[in-house]
Amino acid sequence: MEKLINYTIEAFQSVFESEPESIFLAPGRINIIGEHVDYSDGFVLPAAIDKYICFAVRKVDNSENCTFFAKDFDDSFSFNITQKQSPVSQMWVNYLLGVFNVIQESGKKIGGLQVAFSSTIPMGSGLSSSAALECGFAFILNELFDLNLTKKDLALIGQKSEHTFVGVKCGIMDQFASVFGKEHQVIMLDCNSLEHQYFEANIEGYSLVLFDSCVKHTHLTSGYNDRRKDVDKAKKILWKKFPEVEKFRDFSFSMLDEVRAEIGETSYKRSLYLLKEIKRVEKAAKALSEGNIKYLGTLLSETHSGLSTEFEVSCKELDFMVEETLKEEGVLGARIMGGGFGGCSINLIKSENVDDVIEKITQKYKVDFGIEMKVYRVKISDGINEYERNEFII
Ligand code: GLA
Repeated sequence: MEKLINYTIEAFQSVFESEPESIFLAPGRINIIGEHVDYSDGFVLPAAIDKYICFAVRKVDNSENCTFFAKDFDDSFSFNITQKQSPVSQMWVNYLLGVFNVIQESGKKIGGLQVAFSSTIPMGSGLSSSAALECGFAFILNELFDLNLTKKDLALIGQKSEHTFVGVKCGIMDQFASVFGKEHQVIMLDCNSLEHQYFEANIEGYSLVLFDSCVKHTHLTSGYNDRRKDVDKAKKILWKKFPEVEKFRDFSFSMLDEVRAEIGETSYKRSLYLLKEIKRVEKAAKALSEGNIKYLGTLLSETHSGLSTEFEVSCKELDFMVEETLKEEGVLGARIMGGGFGGCSINLIKSENVDDVIEKITQKYKVDFGIEMKVYRVKISDGINEYERNEFII
């Protein structure tokens, strides 16, 4: 983290030829279980992790410009804060411009600003670098310009930015986790009401390890929005037939069966997965709170098989990785994590077996796909925060 902070401060100094006034850290996230249910009234179990986007910022009084420098792309962008903004061709800019746009539309005012940022969250790996970028910027604007936004507002602003300026119709999980994360705690989030509670991530003797397939995805082109369309089709028909049902999670399997012919096989499969997954999350939260780690592992693996065969968001590399991982000693569960179509698997492994499993899967993956898998041993960490000035190490 210190390295990232120093690196970002140096980037700021070299581009803006002055010192940053403050430093902010916005984390990526893991999700223990509850995939694709965040836009269908489900529960999810994410947590913020110790991989961050670091922002070095300075307010510029009497200026009408906001300037970003993205150190990792060696690219910059400047815009006039008094004017209305539209999406641009530099993709990374849209996450930030979208946030500005949502805040501007709400009538709140910001001033001139210089921002340099850099990241240790691998992009396109399912660890939500986008949510960290959106919500990190929203958090900064809130702090520097006293916008009086709540944490929930910040998460919703991030999500709206992604919908409107990036074009991905994501749920709320990633933004929520990046904003609300707490060290050592996973968040049980009801995506319908946004009520949430924290759980001690008590998996002593076991480790959650991420294997990055290095198959990159962007949800703009991945099929994410198509999955939402499949589900929306089913929802429309379900609610027409059963208007008394309040939340998607309250539809029963038999109700779904009744509309099967009408919604078609694809939408049926997707909805079946969702209803099962929502139930799995509740079971997983119980298992975690009771220390039933073995059962938690079983549920993770069930999620993978649902994501692969019913929701169809896995890929051959991740299916291979998960299948091979599950054969190894000490592995309790494994699954693709996040939106899918590439990225990481999350693996629940007995701590004493972790090194062995990593060695074997790295080797097998290399032989079959010619790709060097990456491994992240992440820690569950706090959500977006300002890094105290006296902690600077320059
Ligand atoms: C992406 C989206 C989230 C969520 C996950 C799948 O990360 O941004 O809202 O839908 O995929 O669980």
